[in-house]
Amino acid sequence: MQEEQAYYLNQICSENALYAQQNGKSKKCLIHTFGCQMNERDSEILFGFLTQMGYEKTEKESEADFILLNTCCIREKAESKVLSQLGELKKLKQNNPDLLIGVCGCMVQQKGMADTIRSSAPHVDLIFGTHNLHNLPVYVYNLYRGKGRQITVLEQEEAIQEGMPAYREYPFKALVNIVYGCNNFCTYCIVPYVRGRERSRKQADIVQEVKQLVKEGVIEVTLLGQNVNSYGLDLHDGTTFAGLLRELDKIEGLRRIRYMTSHPKDLTEELVQTIAASSKICNHFHLPVQSGSSRILKLMNRRYTKEDYLRLVALIRRYMPDAAITTDIIVGFPGETEADFLETIDLVKQVQFDSAFTFIYSRRTGTPAAIMEDPISLEEKKERLQRLNDVLGEIGRHINDGLEDKVVEVLVEGPSKTNTEMLSGRTSTNKTVIFAGDSSLIGRIVKVTITEAQTWILKGALAE
Ligand code: SAH
Ligand code: SF4
Ligand code: F3S
Repeated sequence: MQEEQAYYLNQICSENALYAQQNGKSKKCLIHTFGCQMNERDSEILFGFLTQMGYEKTEKESEADFILLNTCCIREKAESKVLSQLGELKKLKQNNPDLLIGVCGCMVQQKGMADTIRSSAPHVDLIFGTHNLHNLPVYVYNLYRGKGRQITVLEQEEAIQEGMPAYREYPFKALVNIVYGCNNFCTYCIVPYVRGRERSRKQADIVQEVKQLVKEGVIEVTLLGQNVNSYGLDLHDGTTFAGLLRELDKIEGLRRIRYMTSHPKDLTEELVQTIAASSKICNHFHLPVQSGSSRILKLMNRRYTKEDYLRLVALIRRYMPDAAITTDIIVGFPGETEADFLETIDLVKQVQFDSAFTFIYSRRTGTPAAIMEDPISLEEKKERLQRLNDVLGEIGRHINDGLEDKVVEVLVEGPSKTNTEMLSGRTSTNKTVIFAGDSSLIGRIVKVTITEAQTWILKGALAE
């Protein structure tokens, strides 16, 4: 960590210690995280800073001294959620003028957004973008010093920051950034505008971090990047994603390696071979296809065709017949016709996806697709989404039915969200399994016999 950061952290920490002494309780903080795992990881770092400042974590807004919204703008819905939350906070601030409120993340990084929030939400004390989260200590210090609202959004990314603190949610699994940003400019997508260009971390730094995590008890890592397959290419020193995976595979004590997300355009045979040869890299390909129509894929600037995608799936099946394949699909991209949509349905049936995240296209200002003709009504788009989800549900159910009576290895993650009496865990293929067991199993990999298949989850019983 930079010396400057450490200086501000120490200053804030001693003030907060004094506060705790005088008030008999520590200051508390709360971060609302919207969006993807990149944001989850960023929130872990922000929490890391706040913990070092002496803040304690709370789940209750009413008792928080500092509330931060780490925002997402991938679709309009994500933004509306943030804005309604921001509205709620206004009342809290009225009741508690000492409350600090911050807004950061992807939404703020959009052109003009910081100014909009500055003027429309005077209860916000702090605004920063995705490129300057490492400056949180300075901003908080300035707020403590009464230097007024802190609003800083850098237009461009800076050099990668290593060695930032982090507060990790789970002791046994961890998110690890490998490449930041995105160079692909899919025409519908805002991410390249709010996360900057691709920047890979050095392989040695990643290996070192994972080794340290394993020492601390982590057995599963999820490597993060908008397009992990292009990891290393910007370093121009021969570093590749396949090479990184081979290094991580050697780490003793590490049991599972996952990664998010693969772009089909650079999934190579070498990579599939590497994954097939490793017992740690999970049996799961999340390979977003977006559409089954080559015409739409071209308009989306995805740089592959339906046939290319089907060839990739065949390649995966050849080396790893048991691997789960999941995807992301957008329906109602501007100009998508019924015939285009039927190509998507056809592709889904051919691939037999285990599951998929499906979205209705959402217009993002500033992206090329935002100005494309879009004559299809929202009603029709909703109807397409429903038809697609029905087909996916049937396929998912059929695949899961085939798992009944099979024994699978499950990393136990914690109590089930729907029934806290039961445990919930994940298979290597990333399927959720619910079963009865003692909480001492949390964080361990156990064998479970599948007793009942449902469309999106499996029920099971401990096999040993
Ligand atoms: N980098 C990842 C995707 C990150 S965004 C990749 O390329 O696969 C996650 C998903 O959100 C995308 O795969 C896409 O399906 C969806 N998405 C992105 N922009 C969208 C938009 N404008 N409208 C609807 N869905 C969108
Ligand atoms: Fe968005 Fe495409 Fe980049 Fe994924 S690869 S983040 S969809 S631009
Ligand atoms: Fe959202 Fe930013 Fe992720 S826009 S999906 S939080 S990279």
